[in-house]
Amino acid sequence: MTVPGAGPARAPLRIGVAGLGTVGVGVLRLLEANAELIAARAGRPIVIAAVAARDRARERGIDLAGLRWHEDACGLATDPAIDVVVELIGGADGAARQVVEAALAAGRPVVTANKALIAIHGAALAAIAERCGVPLCFEAAVAGGIPVIKAVREGLAADRLTRVGGILNGTCNYILTAMRESGRDFATILAEAQALGYAEADPSTDIDGIDAAHKLAILAALAFGRPVDFGSVHVEGIRAIGALDIAFAQELGYRIKLLGIARLTEAGVEARVHPCLVPQTAPIALVEGVFNAVFAEGDFVGRIMLEGRGAGAGPTASAVVADLIDIARGTTVPVWGANAEQLSQVVSVPIGERLGDYYLRLHVLDRPGVIAEIAAILRDSGVSLKSMLQHAAPDDVAGGDAPDAVPIVLVTHQTREVAMRRALDLIAALDVVVEPPAMIRIEAG
Ligand code: NDP
Ligand code: HSE
Repeated sequence: MTVPGAGPARAPLRIGVAGLGTVGVGVLRLLEANAELIAARAGRPIVIAAVAARDRARERGIDLAGLRWHEDACGLATDPAIDVVVELIGGADGAARQVVEAALAAGRPVVTANKALIAIHGAALAAIAERCGVPLCFEAAVAGGIPVIKAVREGLAADRLTRVGGILNGTCNYILTAMRESGRDFATILAEAQALGYAEADPSTDIDGIDAAHKLAILAALAFGRPVDFGSVHVEGIRAIGALDIAFAQELGYRIKLLGIARLTEAGVEARVHPCLVPQTAPIALVEGVFNAVFAEGDFVGRIMLEGRGAGAGPTASAVVADLIDIARGTTVPVWGANAEQLSQVVSVPIGERLGDYYLRLHVLDRPGVIAEIAAILRDSGVSLKSMLQHAAPDDVAGGDAPDAVPIVLVTHQTREVAMRRALDLIAALDVVVEPPAMIRIEAG
């Protein structure tokens, strides 16, 4: 691979940063604060030469004096004063995609934290990088400061991985943790996560599970050696999770987490993001706040789990600069761990094939025979019940529009999801069921 500036003189690696928001400013601060240590590890200094953002007048709390300023981020791609482009604008298309494509095509290495871009256009971008012989690095795109790309792509390169995933969105984990611990409402906690710089520009990307799905698509491609395929990930977010389910989960010995899980089965790759009930004692249940955790399971390594801060200026900058150090040293690897023609074409498996336990919460009229009606539907659908809870909801979380309705919770034995959904549709249609049922998948963690 071509690494501009590399050579016996060990000239500084000159970088151009597109985007001076939470992460961009974090990168500039880190490069300044740890300049000596970074130069020693990279074998040469890494210096900022140029920047691009929308608003030149904005006060950013950093000194931009002496740096070249580009109105148009694409100008960085061909600026003769820089060797590497760092894209920290965000978004799968628009300026972010344009500057990355232009830089790769111009033979410039690219570092990005942009998971949307890599999940959606990663195969095409890798093809340009491969053709032009330049590195495309995205350590910060998955799980912020946790070096998970390197762990899966390089550290586990010898293993046949069968499962990968974890808590992949810091904002959602922050919200779920705070809802459980403090009982505060969703909107207040989301505003806090935004103020802390965790959330995406459009926070629905976080809370609807899309950001976690971008990251899972990237992890699955690396783990199973196949082209990145965001479209095949089943996605559900956390909007429907309320105080009642959090309270019932606690009572049953679980915590609710938004997990991304990708599995290699005999039928193909199953990839899904959705809220899960995980046992309170499972290591992943103890990962709280903005922390992320990523697990992987391989045929020789067994199971590993890495935990750390998944969002925020410092952790994300740490991952971006680690990529820059790799480029400065010249130690980069193929974008997806193997060249495009060596990637496998293993198919995707739909969510209906999931086999596992389910938590169902229903609001039903408190009348004789209701449980029997529900039990009959489950029996006819081949769904076996493990346990059932029925009592008045705690005062602060009791709800439902019908005053004589009560919540009941059913936990099933292992069931195929298609059967579970068929049963739920029939249950939802019963006159005695007064609200759409809630279904949360149960995972071991
Ligand atoms: P911000 O919204 O804080 O910053 C975005 C920056 O991009 C701003 O400086 C903005 O300029 C600039 N920008 C927007 N449009 C353009 C454009 N057309 N041309 C030039 N500059 C533009 O985003 P973050 O720093 O939070 O995120 C950046 C990337 O890092 C995203 O891909 C995100 O998903 C990813 N990421 C973020 C993490 C986090 O914790 N925040 C963690 C991991 C990854 P201006 O300031 O002038 O408006
Ligand atoms: N919005 C993302 C999160 C940033 O909350 O995890 C890190 O990718």
